[in-house]
Amino acid sequence: MKKIVFATNNKHKLDEIRKITDGSLQILGLADIHCEDEIEETGTTLEENALLKARYVKEKYGYDCFADDTGLEVEALGGAPGVYSSRYAGEACNPADNMAKLLHELAGVKNRNARFRTVITLLIGDEMHFFEGVVNGRIIEEQRGEAGFGYDPVFVPEGKDQTFAELGNDVKNQISHRALATHQLAQFLTER
Ligand code: IMP
Repeated sequence: MKKIVFATNNKHKLDEIRKITDGSLQILGLADIHCEDEIEETGTTLEENALLKARYVKEKYGYDCFADDTGLEVEALGGAPGVYSSRYAGEACNPADNMAKLLHELAGVKNRNARFRTVITLLIGDEMHFFEGVVNGRIIEEQRGEAGFGYDPVFVPEGKDQTFAELGNDVKNQISHRALATHQLAQFLTER
């Protein structure tokens, strides 16, 4: 069976893509290829960061590989925090710090439009492919809900009244940016 590496150590992400591709491919994580290196995300766009990670694995280990990167893009902030979402409030910050900074930056701002965007870069043979998943929504003025991670308590997806953190993982995983991008990748790989 064809082997392909997903340049991640995140067990949830690995489980998700393995479930979607339903055993038609052997998807290895970084631990499976004994890669313990910290791959630095020095890009200035999601596409660059995803490519950096995939290229590192392809060049060092020779496997076909894909990698993802996600950001929250807020319209009134010119697309910030975007590629810097995980470290919006500083290098050693946590999700609560990031949300506090976001709500502070948006205090009094009427335009609350935002979107989550996931980019997956695939390096397969000599080819490079990009897949994108987007969920539009808005940033509310306070945190609501306990589930999920990151900015989930302040993000309400379009067509819903609850935040991602209130909707819970089952609902979120059906409609999320990551799920949308992952389904496109899975379709591409299984049709190939
Ligand atoms: P990553 O590329 O998946 O590591 O995501 C980068 C950062 O974006 C995370 O550290 C979170 O701050 C934020 N993020 C990514 N996906 C989500 C999500 O589904 N909900 C909330 N925040 C997210």
